[in-house]
Amino acid sequence: MDILEAAERYITALAAEDAGGHDHFHALRVRRTAEYLAAREGADARITALAALLHDADDIKLSPETHATLANAVSFLRGQGVPEEEIGRITRIISQISFGGTGKTVPDSIEGKCVQDADRLDAIGAVGVARAFAYGGSHGRAMYDPDEAPCLDMDAETYRKHVSTTVNHFYEKLFRLRDLMNTETARRIAQQRDAFMRAFLDEFYAEWNGER
Ligand code: ADP
Ligand code: NI
Repeated sequence: MDILEAAERYITALAAEDAGGHDHFHALRVRRTAEYLAAREGADARITALAALLHDADDIKLSPETHATLANAVSFLRGQGVPEEEIGRITRIISQISFGGTGKTVPDSIEGKCVQDADRLDAIGAVGVARAFAYGGSHGRAMYDPDEAPCLDMDAETYRKHVSTTVNHFYEKLFRLRDLMNTETARRIAQQRDAFMRAFLDEFYAEWNGER
């Protein structure tokens, strides 16, 4: 079995252990999009694909005890005999890509830029809308509350603790992602997905207000 196939199996098994039902399909989509970006941006395909597949293996919400050390990703890669230098490049990408409320961390490798863009692209567009409402529902959040304004300019700590409606999440995070893309290829995809989300909310408000 090749290492990418082994990585897919590994993250699928990890997700199955998670009672919250975090799905590995996110990581598979991020891998595919990241490889697409990598091919156009001249990034190393294998490093990009491995970092994409493993990017949430030590996610703070899913595996808080390994988040700091990235122990899941590292032990998988060591088990596959990946050289320490490559493991270092991959773990550096994983620790550089998370949003953390501010969106300020820019990965210092082209592979990391592709994975971060792919992860962000998966949060917008039709899949992004679906993920946001799925997340909101599973956390008992209201879809929308016309009396609750979005909370902009949060620092990382406030963002992590902040409870808001799913519609507010569009303003607090999703609509900001388009302008945070690292690569030209991702910017083009993001523009289209962002326009779709704006059209979605227009329709949502029109229906909510009895205008359509
Ligand atoms: P990732 O680690 O894959 O970048 P997150 O773990 O931050 O993404 O979030 C997973 C998904 O849940 C994303 O699609 C994100 O937009 C959505 N999400 C995160 N926080 C909220 C929220 N407060 N309300 C609605 N959706 C959310
Ligand atoms: Ni992710």
